[in-house]
Amino acid sequence: MSKRVNKAVFPVAGLGTRFLPATKASPKEMLPVVDKPLIQYGVEEAVAAGIEVMVFITGRNKTSISNHFDTAYELEIELESRHKTKLLEIVQNITPPNVSCVFIRQSMPLGLGHAVLCAAPVVGDEPFAVVLADDLIHDGDRGCLKQMVDLYEQTQCSILATETVPPEATGSYGIVDTGEDGELVGVRGIVEKPKPEVAPSNRGVVGRYILTPGIFSMLTQTQRGAGGEIQLTDGIASLLEHESVMAYNFKGRRYDCGSKLGYLKATVDYALDHQELGADFKAWIQKRFD
Ligand code: G1P
Repeated sequence: MSKRVNKAVFPVAGLGTRFLPATKASPKEMLPVVDKPLIQYGVEEAVAAGIEVMVFITGRNKTSISNHFDTAYELEIELESRHKTKLLEIVQNITPPNVSCVFIRQSMPLGLGHAVLCAAPVVGDEPFAVVLADDLIHDGDRGCLKQMVDLYEQTQCSILATETVPPEATGSYGIVDTGEDGELVGVRGIVEKPKPEVAPSNRGVVGRYILTPGIFSMLTQTQRGAGGEIQLTDGIASLLEHESVMAYNFKGRRYDCGSKLGYLKATVDYALDHQELGADFKAWIQKRFD
C-alpha cells in the first residue's frame, strides 16, 4: 500500500562558517530574510505540502531553533497585556496546531547523508522530504515541496529537485546524469560536487528531496566521500542500483542563502514583495540609484 509523504527532515547541524561572525553564537538557519528566519520559510513550505511532522537534525548551539518552534509563554503574556493582538497571532501561529516538531541531535558532524540517517528511527518505513533551509525557494502558487509531493503520489519514487547551474559551478552541487532533458526525467547517475571537466551535466540538485525509506539502508553502508563526509548524494547513487529516482526541474526561484550574495538577493526580492514594506522599499531603492 502506498504511503503519503508526511514527514520532512531538516538537517540544521551545520556550522554556517560562510556567515561568520553572524553565525558564531546563532545558527545560520535563524538568519532572517526580512522578518522570518530561513528555517521558518522551509517549515512553511513543508506545511503547504501537507506535511505534519517536522524532524530537525540539530547540533550544538542550535537551541534557538527549538525555541522558535516552541511556545514563548513570557512573550505571549507580554504581548497580550499590551494588546498587541497581531503580533501575538504571528508568534502563536508559526506552525499550525496539527504540526509536530521532533528534534534529534547529530552528535558528530559527519555530513548530510549522516544527518539524514539520524532521522531513520523517526521516519520509519515511509517516504519523506528533506529540506535544506539555506536554499530558499520563492514559489508562484504551488511551493516546490508541494509540486514534488504531488509528483511522488503519481510516480511512487524518489524525486530530486534540480535546476540548471552555470557549468563552472558544478563543484558546488550534486550533479545528475539524466541522459535526456526534460522537466521530470529518470536519473542514471549522480555525483557530489564534480569539477566541471568531469561533471556528467550541469543539472544541479537543490535542497529539496523526496526519498523513499530505501535510502536508509544505503546510507548505513555509505563511506565518507567528498570533503571526508558521508554524502546524501552517494547514498542516492547506491539507491539508483535498486530503485528509480527522478530529477525534477521545479517551478519557482531559488536563492542560495548559504552564500552572502544569494542571501542579499533574497532579502531584496522578499522586501520588494513584502505587503507592508514593499512600496516604501522600492521607492528607497529607486532613489538610491537615481
Ligand atoms: C548540499 C548537497 C549537494 C546539493 C546542495 C544543494 O551541499 O551535498 O549535493 O546540491 O546541498 O544546496 P551543500 O550546499 O550543503 O554543500
